[in-house]
Amino acid sequence: MPLKAELHCHIEGAASPELVIRQATKYGRDASPFIRDGAFVWHDFTSFLAAYDFSADLFRTEDDYARLSEHYLTSLARDGAVYSEFFISPDHALKAGLSPAAYADALGEGIVRARAKTGIEARMIVTGVRHVGIEAVEQAARFAVKCGNPLVTGLGLAGDERIGGFDDFVRAFEIAREAGLGITVHAGELTGWQTVAAALDHIRPSRIGHGVRAIENPDLVKRIADEGVVLECCPGSNVALAVFPSFAEHPFPALMAAGCKVTLNSDDPPYFHTSLKREYDIASVHFGMSDKALLGVTRTAIEAAFVDRKTKQALLAKLGRAGQRR
Ligand code: ADE
Ligand code: ZN
Repeated sequence: MPLKAELHCHIEGAASPELVIRQATKYGRDASPFIRDGAFVWHDFTSFLAAYDFSADLFRTEDDYARLSEHYLTSLARDGAVYSEFFISPDHALKAGLSPAAYADALGEGIVRARAKTGIEARMIVTGVRHVGIEAVEQAARFAVKCGNPLVTGLGLAGDERIGGFDDFVRAFEIAREAGLGITVHAGELTGWQTVAAALDHIRPSRIGHGVRAIENPDLVKRIADEGVVLECCPGSNVALAVFPSFAEHPFPALMAAGCKVTLNSDDPPYFHTSLKREYDIASVHFGMSDKALLGVTRTAIEAAFVDRKTKQALLAKLGRAGQRR
């Protein structure tokens, strides 16, 4: 089993249906419109977001959030992950009545606990939700810069790609860049290659969340390869959301063959019936990747991680030792 690393998981989207039902009971809410037969119920991106927002609203206290990140990271470590970067969303915290600082610190407490139990390293990416609005994304950027939590190392942009253009978010990402935060934005998931090109033109991120629909434009694929932009690919999520009809038609192998830096990620694992382990299994079974090639994907993720140099070197050394053992 190759060692793994994840760069793209939304922490509220990592809560299992059982945990969400437990939270719903705790707060006196009826989860049945969104969870049936132990699975989240949705049929397209809009209804996925509705189920996601319903569940996120059931995490309200520092203890709720600390347990959530501790649980997610502990199970990730059990599946062979040495590193995780997950998206956190101050907008969800505010909606739940918690200050962004208390929210980030609580999730950080979960990281510390999981690290003590399993050795897994993790960092957090403060993420603006584009359909919440431009001002909210800028507020998220200012929070990421000033929060003072050393485990917050990046700024991201998620939400409904069909709303707003990347030119709307330039200021937010300039705030982050000036402060030395890492930058990643979702693009080329629900919308075509044009949004990936717009993200590169306007935001200049080192990583793109998904980015897979860049495959529609060979010149753009070449640009991604030439510029060394890292793609946070989530094949299980893409097939579940019908971005591609099957794994056989997923462009991960083609992007890799074209020289793009690609990584494997679970996105919102229980919504898409996946896990980081399943993503690596998909790559093995459907993309024909060997354990050695998969370890290379993990190395790409660590090299692209928004983490200090010393931690990155230690993680790369761990991968090196694992490579020598096989
Ligand atoms: N928020 C949570 N999951 C997301 C996804 N897959 N795309 C965009 N925004 C999201
Ligand atoms: Zn995502």
